[in-house]
Amino acid sequence: MKYAVTAAAGRFGQGAVKVLNELVGAENVVVIDRNLEKAQGLYPNNEVRVGNYDEVASMEAALKGIDKVLFISSQPGGKVDRATAQKNVVDAMKKNGVKFVAYTSFPHAQTSKSALAEDHRITENAIKDAGIAHSFLRDNWYLENEIGFLKSGVADQPALYWANNKAGWALEGDYSEAAAKVLASENSKEIYELAGASRSYEELGEALKKATGNDFEIKQVSEDEYIKYLEKTGLDSATAAMFASFQAPINDGSLEENTNDLAEALGRPVTPIVESIKEVLAH
Ligand SMILES: NC(=O)c1ccc[n+]([C@@H]2O[C@H](COP(=O)([O-])OP(=O)(O)OC[C@H]3O[C@@H](n4cnc5c(N)ncnc54)[C@H](OP(=O)(O)O)[C@@H]3O)[C@@H](O)[C@H]2O)c1
Repeated sequence: MKYAVTAAAGRFGQGAVKVLNELVGAENVVVIDRNLEKAQGLYPNNEVRVGNYDEVASMEAALKGIDKVLFISSQPGGKVDRATAQKNVVDAMKKNGVKFVAYTSFPHAQTSKSALAEDHRITENAIKDAGIAHSFLRDNWYLENEIGFLKSGVADQPALYWANNKAGWALEGDYSEAAAKVLASENSKEIYELAGASRSYEELGEALKKATGNDFEIKQVSEDEYIKYLEKTGLDSATAAMFASFQAPINDGSLEENTNDLAEALGRPVTPIVESIKEVLAH
């Protein structure tokens, strides 16, 4: 059985390949990335192939002889739009007779009203239409997204946010470990809504107080005030607006989750929140 991980040189890929190598042996794991040198440096014990989602021929060559694929979603805003680029990956898997794909998707991708869900919905549908057996790994928010909020607590400064509602933050490493375990499993489910326990920013801030031993203010401001605050920290206005927009899916309720899927996929409890915060801050 040959496994492959795409976009393998990113942070998610690195976590997943490490676990997959342990589970099935590095000799059975092909790593695919568009940056050959970077991937060769990271994975001296794996076969490394070049694969760029933007070019279907590149992905067709990269996926030759592969049975099971961990298909890691790319970032929006590339040269080729993400839905089109990811369709190339699906077409290449179909052409190569890939038997199973685990795809990193978005919470409740088929029904979510979040703008970020659309590419993932299109890719999930392309996988279904291609008739490839699959698991959709619908990852909730990475705790790493909140590095600015977490660092405020370390500095004993007010921790600011604007979004109402809750998110199921968990370590990116928990999601990537779960992804590798689902890929290696013989009897995975079709859909995993992967998330830590749902928390508000207020609750995340209380955990941050425990992790840092500091007693700072946790303060909700308007989205505009939040953007202005980010600009004052040195971000240009476009970057500040982009960072602020990461809270939109929390505010619109897209990331409230109440499943045990992450622990189930991990085969162990999700890393506790205070420990997770300490881990993010240690890197
Ligand atoms: N749920 C969340 O909170 C959350 C947060 C952030 C991201 N995400 C999603 O999770 C994915 C993995 O996250 P990550 O931390 O591993 O991100 P990352 O470190 O930025 O890695 C993304 C990887 O995708 C590769 N890539 C991008 N476009 C590609 C293309 N057209 N063809 C081939 N490879 C391409 C990148 O290659 P290069 O190094 O060459 O650019 C990189 O190796 C992201 O891509 C995004 O879809 C989710």
